[in-house]
Amino acid sequence: MLTDTDVRQALHGVIDPEIRKPIDEIGMLGGFAIDGDTVTVDILLTVPGCPHTDEITARVRAALEPIGATSVEVRFGEMEPEQRAQMASGLQKEMPFRRPDSRTTVIGVSSGKGGVGKSTVTTNIAAALNTLGHRVGVLDADIWGFSIPRMFGLRGRRPVAFDGMIMPLDRNGVKVISIGFFLPSEEEAVVWRGPMLHKALEQFLTDVYWGDDLEYLLIDLPPGTGDVSLSLATFLPNMGMLVVTTPQPVAQKVAERAANMAGKVKQRLLGVVENMSGSVFGDGGGQELADVLGIPLLGKLPLAGEIRESSDAGEPFVWSHPDDPTTAVYMDVARKLAEFRPRRRLPVMEIGSR
Ligand SMILES: Nc1ncnc2c1ncn2[C@@H]1O[C@H](COP(=O)(O)OP(=O)(O)OP(=O)(O)O)[C@@H](O)[C@H]1O
Ligand SMILES: [Mg+2]
Repeated sequence: MLTDTDVRQALHGVIDPEIRKPIDEIGMLGGFAIDGDTVTVDILLTVPGCPHTDEITARVRAALEPIGATSVEVRFGEMEPEQRAQMASGLQKEMPFRRPDSRTTVIGVSSGKGGVGKSTVTTNIAAALNTLGHRVGVLDADIWGFSIPRMFGLRGRRPVAFDGMIMPLDRNGVKVISIGFFLPSEEEAVVWRGPMLHKALEQFLTDVYWGDDLEYLLIDLPPGTGDVSLSLATFLPNMGMLVVTTPQPVAQKVAERAANMAGKVKQRLLGVVENMSGSVFGDGGGQELADVLGIPLLGKLPLAGEIRESSDAGEPFVWSHPDDPTTAVYMDVARKLAEFRPRRRLPVMEIGSR
């Protein structure tokens, strides 16, 4: 005899394939009726024409059959707008990138001092990963000196909110969010201090709809080792760090400090990129830093006027100069970074002969 409690408990085990939470917790379980061994389940979909109805039906059946439901009928309806809004707000406060089953590799781009080209490197590596066919997001965490909106040609645009979530802006498939999108003007002095900053970053990581299938999130960090880096380290302990340095020893020393700090908070150091290589700046600093840190030098990018021009024009260099040798270097760095992708799936277990 099927009881109400058994069925309720079994249905609690049904996870929505998209939101990945139990259907009863997110308001998708409209109700159920038991008639002997037959159970009829009403599911409320978040969106009309949800593509997962077959999968949900299969999951409901798989949950109810073991407890003795011989016949299971699943009916689909839709959530009311209020229910949907409530669900969206109930979903907040969890950072998707922290979940153990997150499929996103988070890479922070850091440097010891300002102006070494972090934002330029972030922008072009994002563009390169995108060109390689990956789904990429960019989070501009440089609250005081944001330049990502300009470099992606998104200056002056405003993200829209949907069901309590902020939709990132999209450039050529790269999802971009920056504090710059929310300020009245680029000149607006951002005088935020630690706690507000912490809150803003938290919101970028929880309330921005990055989508379920993001492969890489690149974070453009402000220079040095301040509040932002600390906040991010607590939010995203799995974040990897890319260190950008110019070839001179001074830049190198400070980059070293930033890297040491990343080491202290136990973030993985992925590699060094030497930027503005050659000519007056010389080169070799990147390799030295990489050796000191015991991590690979992933690439050396030359100092080239066209790179700055592309940034100023809002056209990532990698996209505007696809055949340039420097683009090849960016692509190479992107490929090497892609290799750091942690294994996502558990190894397939061999089923022995029975
Ligand atoms: N390889 C390069 N060749 C020529 N110019 C470059 C190169 N890399 C960056 N630049 C230019 O140098 C300036 C600083 O670069 P960028 O803004 O990327 O540095 P940053 O480290 O992000 O600076 P900040 O610390 O202010 O955030 C920009 O004008 C940029 O266009
Ligand atoms: Mg910058």
